[in-house]
Amino acid sequence: MSPTAKTRRCTFIIENGLIVDGTGNTATEGDVAVDGERIVGVGDCSGFRADATFDAGGKVISPGFIDCHTHDDRAVFATPDMSMKASQGVTSVVAGNCGISLAPFETGNGLPPPFPLLGREENFTYPSVRAYREAFERKPPALNLALLTGHSSLRVNVMKADLERPAKEPELRDMQDRLRQAMRDGSIGLSTGLGYPPARNAPREEIIALASVLWEFDRPVYATHMRDEGDHVLEAVEETIDTGRRAGVQTVISHHKCSGPKNYGRSTETLAAIAAARAEQKLGLDVYPYTASSTSLLPEYVRKSEDVLITYSDPHPEMAGRRLEDVAAEWSCDPIEAAERLYPAGAIYFQMDEEDLKRILAAPGAMVGSDGLPGGTKPHPRLWGTFPRVLARYVREQRLLALEDAVHRMSGLTAQTFGLTDRGVIAPGAYADLVMFDPDTVTDTASFKDPEQPATGIEKVFVNGNIVWDGDHSSSARPGRFLTH
Ligand code: ZN
Ligand code: CU
Repeated sequence: MSPTAKTRRCTFIIENGLIVDGTGNTATEGDVAVDGERIVGVGDCSGFRADATFDAGGKVISPGFIDCHTHDDRAVFATPDMSMKASQGVTSVVAGNCGISLAPFETGNGLPPPFPLLGREENFTYPSVRAYREAFERKPPALNLALLTGHSSLRVNVMKADLERPAKEPELRDMQDRLRQAMRDGSIGLSTGLGYPPARNAPREEIIALASVLWEFDRPVYATHMRDEGDHVLEAVEETIDTGRRAGVQTVISHHKCSGPKNYGRSTETLAAIAAARAEQKLGLDVYPYTASSTSLLPEYVRKSEDVLITYSDPHPEMAGRRLEDVAAEWSCDPIEAAERLYPAGAIYFQMDEEDLKRILAAPGAMVGSDGLPGGTKPHPRLWGTFPRVLARYVREQRLLALEDAVHRMSGLTAQTFGLTDRGVIAPGAYADLVMFDPDTVTDTASFKDPEQPATGIEKVFVNGNIVWDGDHSSSARPGRFLTH
């Protein structure tokens, strides 16, 4: 160590940790020194003189987790402490997924499903990404956020309520221009929700034409909730691969799953197709560690599920947390009619296989993303439990993933895939987004019955060098940044 380094001052040091640096490399014992918003030393930091010191007591220090699949577009304003994510060790979220982004969005044309997952029409107050970003920076939340531009948002802006058809040529050009503007305003890419009503009649060529615009920008991402996640999941994977290859951009398959009992086990087929494509093009995927999904309460999903729980209902708020079948019995109608009477509503659908989930979680290129839906009365527990659940269930209990590998899929791999510079790793010069946790006790306590519970074992969480979660509570710090490329 040079003599100047020996006298170097810094803001704080976390001493005596087991450093899991986010790259996938083997953990090492040591310290992490932070000055201001950046990491300045890793390993032996005895040469630093710090204003404050934390003793990790041999526990893990890792990069803060990056939740690459969220619908936190509005949550960062509505609940700026972001406890449901900070309590998991999450320090950055990617919002605007599944084709629906809060910005850019022009209201007055109704709010087709699944847009109500983000809020009511009066909450859509950001006609541009620039307006969204300015609002964010005026009153920052606790965590960092990067925003994808939703294809369905672009469709509503341009095609208004007339969505059950392909976009016409001038409409497509208008959408391309709006996407370019969104990218200039700081969006990191495009998302689609091709299985949902506002986009299901958009042909593949429409998506390729839009995703091709991304080429003009630095490290863009195309993330897709595919056209089908059930009987035609393999065709949907093939469409995604083709779209990504023809547009020439980093592509991410969102919340990969094979849903419906007759498709259980088919992840062997989809993952083989993904692995083959990964040899030729940039393709990743994200997954949440539960065998139940959650989205709007729609009849088509009810038909394909083993069991359905209601997360919220605007006309019948008292039904949140109940089984759809029980509500239907009480109302003496069938579940489809009950679903229609409950809408606008959200639901949890039990429709996946544990073996598929494990195979997907361990697949090359797979990242962890919660797909949590804030705002429900009884939300899917993934909103509060995703990251600790991977560490507890799939690292410690089942040993499906090594700790270093799991952390990589929650941080370094995600930052690399989504082009988030100087995030997701512990290295000198990187931002001080950090989490200190106890690998022996970390546990998700959020359950389907009691979903809004913070994890245990996540001891300290830092965002840009500031503590945002301390033991069992949020701090008052709001150091979040709007992340751009
Ligand atoms: Zn989705
Ligand atoms: Cu989603």
